[in-house]
Amino acid sequence: PMKQRLLVVANRLPVSAVRRGEDSWYLEVSAGGLVSALLGVKDVDARWIGWAGVNVPDEVGQRALTKALAEKRCIPVFLDEEIAHQYYNGYCNNILWPLFHYLGLPQEDRLATTRSFQSQFDAYKRANNMFADVVNKHYQEGDVVWCHDYHLMFLPKCLKEYNSKMKVGWFLHTPFPSSEIHRTLPSRSELLRSVLAADLVGFHTYDYARHFVSACTRILGLEGTPEGVEDQGKLTRVAAFPIGIDSDRFKRALELPAVKEHVNELTHRFAGRKVMLGVDRLDMIKGIPQKILAFEKFLEENPSWRDKVVLLQIAVPTRTDVPEYQKLTSQVHEIVGRINGRFGTLTAVPIHHLDRSLDFHALCALYAVTDVALVTSLRDGMNLVSYEFVACQGSKKGVLILSEFAGAAQSLGAGALLVNPWNITEVAASIGYALNMSPDEREKRHRHNYAHVTTHTAQDWAETFVSELNDTVVEAQLRT
Ligand code: UDP
Ligand code: G6P
Repeated sequence: PMKQRLLVVANRLPVSAVRRGEDSWYLEVSAGGLVSALLGVKDVDARWIGWAGVNVPDEVGQRALTKALAEKRCIPVFLDEEIAHQYYNGYCNNILWPLFHYLGLPQEDRLATTRSFQSQFDAYKRANNMFADVVNKHYQEGDVVWCHDYHLMFLPKCLKEYNSKMKVGWFLHTPFPSSEIHRTLPSRSELLRSVLAADLVGFHTYDYARHFVSACTRILGLEGTPEGVEDQGKLTRVAAFPIGIDSDRFKRALELPAVKEHVNELTHRFAGRKVMLGVDRLDMIKGIPQKILAFEKFLEENPSWRDKVVLLQIAVPTRTDVPEYQKLTSQVHEIVGRINGRFGTLTAVPIHHLDRSLDFHALCALYAVTDVALVTSLRDGMNLVSYEFVACQGSKKGVLILSEFAGAAQSLGAGALLVNPWNITEVAASIGYALNMSPDEREKRHRHNYAHVTTHTAQDWAETFVSELNDTVVEAQLRT
């Protein structure tokens, strides 16, 4: 039998386009957990539909980009600049993203945001309709349409209006907050109702799924069942599907001569010092200032460690047109500068902060030489960096310090040192504990995490979701 076709719809395509000329494009791999996880899914007949991250106003450019993307099995959605701005920078990343991570609206322009809310929500709906148009154009009967993330909450409804027989799933890569938080959104009901048009709705953890169901019962007055949410006899299935990574890809990379050489180089460069590592998009939710302040406190309280430990912080630039992200960048730079000034010597500084992304092999080498990884997210849907670190620690068996507010705390809690990132005293103490941990304890903790990361893969995640979606549709047909 022919393999079922999968249409993956996400705002961010796995490659982002950079213009090189009138009809020439350069495609670079996009950053972020959504793209990483989906790139880890093999053996499916998948096509991607999404935004290439650029404004392409001219037809020549659009045609050339469409052709370049087709080679990567990607289909572009073109959004004009004003819509993209209001939808992506505005509604998605200035409103939904902070809200879903319990950060609320940006303090300074709360009222301005409140005022522009309606026009941004209108742009959001318009953008979602544009995605729906492209999906509809490429849809063939029998396809599974898998919509991703907070950018596309309006999409399931648009798709079902086109074709009620389309199999539609929606998966959220962020937390879904308590219904008390969701309740504050002016568009709270409309968003929930559009998501409920999907056949299957998935979250990383059981908590997020439960929050979603209670938002539907409390805000919409619908009935929550163990299976999902029911509206006049129609069931929307709601469940948890914890994401994973392709751990073999990391293990294979570490076997490559070039990567091994890079590992040796790094080991040499940091000889005599323990390496601590942070890898995050430069995002408010990652708790980067909190992490750095905790590291400062540790250095303050442990003078003997000052020349024996280094913190490498990779801060991948992200959403740089959103003012909150610009503010965060300067805030982090200021703190790093202050601490390096305070504890640095003529030959060494305690913090190496890099505002850039790394290629996959460089990242693997860094993970492999790390003694202690620090993930201090204030909230995080899952956090794949913690998984990737564990996958690369087969020989070193380093320690993972992990925020209890990351979804990953539920799967790696037994092996990691869990911390509350707001409690800088606690994080500083955990850093000390991690650096001094006995090899026995490290080994035991690593074994827990490694077993989980290597058996709960991105592949399993995608297969489970798609097969559950197929089953859900069959069951719904049997009921009617
Ligand atoms: N990553 C990347 N470029 C880099 C550094 C990291 O693409 O320079 C990847 C990293 O390997 C991981 C993803 O970005 O797969 C981050 O995912 P995570 O779930 O930790 O957080 P998110 O960025 O999705 O919030
Ligand atoms: C998170 C979101 C993804 C997003 C990624 C990178 O992982 O859940 O949907 O793609 O961040 O952010 P960006 O805005 O660059 O797509």
